[in-house]
Amino acid sequence: MDKKIKIAVIGCGGISNCHLGGYSRNPSVEIYAMCDINRARAEEKAAKYGVPPERVFDDKDKMFAALPEVDAVSVCTWNNAHAECTIAALNAGKDVLCEKPMAMNAAEAEAMKAAAEKSGRLLMIGFVRRHGNDAKVVKDFIDNGYFGSIYYAKAQYLRRNGNPGGWFGDKSRSGGGPLIDLGVHVIDLVRYLVGNPKPVSAYGATYRKLGNRPDVKGSMAYVSADAKDKDQEVCDVEDLASALIRFDNGMTLSVEASFSLNLKSDVGNIEIFGDKAGAKMDPELHLFTNLNGYMANVDFADRTSLSFDGLFDKEINHYVDCLLGKAQCIAPAEDGVTLMKILDAIYKSAATGHEVLIG
Ligand SMILES: NC(=O)c1ccc[n+]([C@@H]2O[C@H](COP(=O)([O-])OP(=O)(O)OC[C@H]3O[C@@H](n4cnc5c(N)ncnc54)[C@H](O)[C@@H]3O)[C@@H](O)[C@H]2O)c1
Repeated sequence: MDKKIKIAVIGCGGISNCHLGGYSRNPSVEIYAMCDINRARAEEKAAKYGVPPERVFDDKDKMFAALPEVDAVSVCTWNNAHAECTIAALNAGKDVLCEKPMAMNAAEAEAMKAAAEKSGRLLMIGFVRRHGNDAKVVKDFIDNGYFGSIYYAKAQYLRRNGNPGGWFGDKSRSGGGPLIDLGVHVIDLVRYLVGNPKPVSAYGATYRKLGNRPDVKGSMAYVSADAKDKDQEVCDVEDLASALIRFDNGMTLSVEASFSLNLKSDVGNIEIFGDKAGAKMDPELHLFTNLNGYMANVDFADRTSLSFDGLFDKEINHYVDCLLGKAQCIAPAEDGVTLMKILDAIYKSAATGHEVLIG
């Protein structure tokens, strides 16, 4: 049997469960080492996945020094550690799958991409929505020219009461609020679907009006592992961001993302408008076009809504296939850099009140 790829996971909190689950079901991989500055979390995951105590670390540099045989890593830390952990791994000769957002800002992302180019290793970004069943169907229609020229798109990821707390609300560790955490998913998905056009400018606004609302009872979308006391924790990120992004192919994308907003219910909506047809992913896919001279709406016989069942496995399997030379990476570092440039421009526009050009 061929040698298995030895994987180390850096950051053993919530999302690492999705990476580890995927690796554990991939026969080409051995879950080999765990690292977390919170050692107890690394130990817990190590026990669960059969990693011996001598391969558990609370410092990535010590891990790379002790285990040169590690082939590849997943970086699942807070956003502020993505760049340092990714660059350390690449410099140690490892391939990297880094969670979204790629980094705190475009400068860090550029440094990560440069480290990947220097090392000759793969740097894949965890844009998991690119691997969704819904994305596959829409991309199939787009690639076959069904929509004609796509000139406008809308992307909304709105939570009514979904500030996860903990590091998510702490700008020094997250880099920002719902724009960098949620907006990144849907901006990237639209950009991927329409063929990765180059952004040229952004005009945005952010608001911090509601905070993490410790006094409000009600459904929470996702609670961070380190959100213990909502009365005490830092919350200095925006709770709503809206923006208009302009691309070099003439398309504009309107984006809205919130952790907290006084709306009826949470929204996850993508709309694409072309000169031949339009689409709405909300959550099932609907197409809008003309049939035989009549305005017509098209629904699908099979389920088209995003299924989370196996979603991360698809991402992990794609990463492993790339490492084995069986696939070309569909979420490369350059797309992560482009996304960070868009996010930087939106935050800068929100701060200045002006449109910001993206170089
Ligand atoms: N793709 C998705 O849909 C999705 C969903 C949730 C989170 N995420 C991303 O995953 C990342 C982690 O989020 P989470 O919800 O798992 O957070 P978490 O707080 O549950 O886990 C993060 C872990 O990283 C550890 N850590 C921080 N700095 C470290 C360092 N320098 N070295 C080693 N470990 C370090 C923390 O101790 C913590 O255990 C974030 O970048 C987040 O944006 C992605």
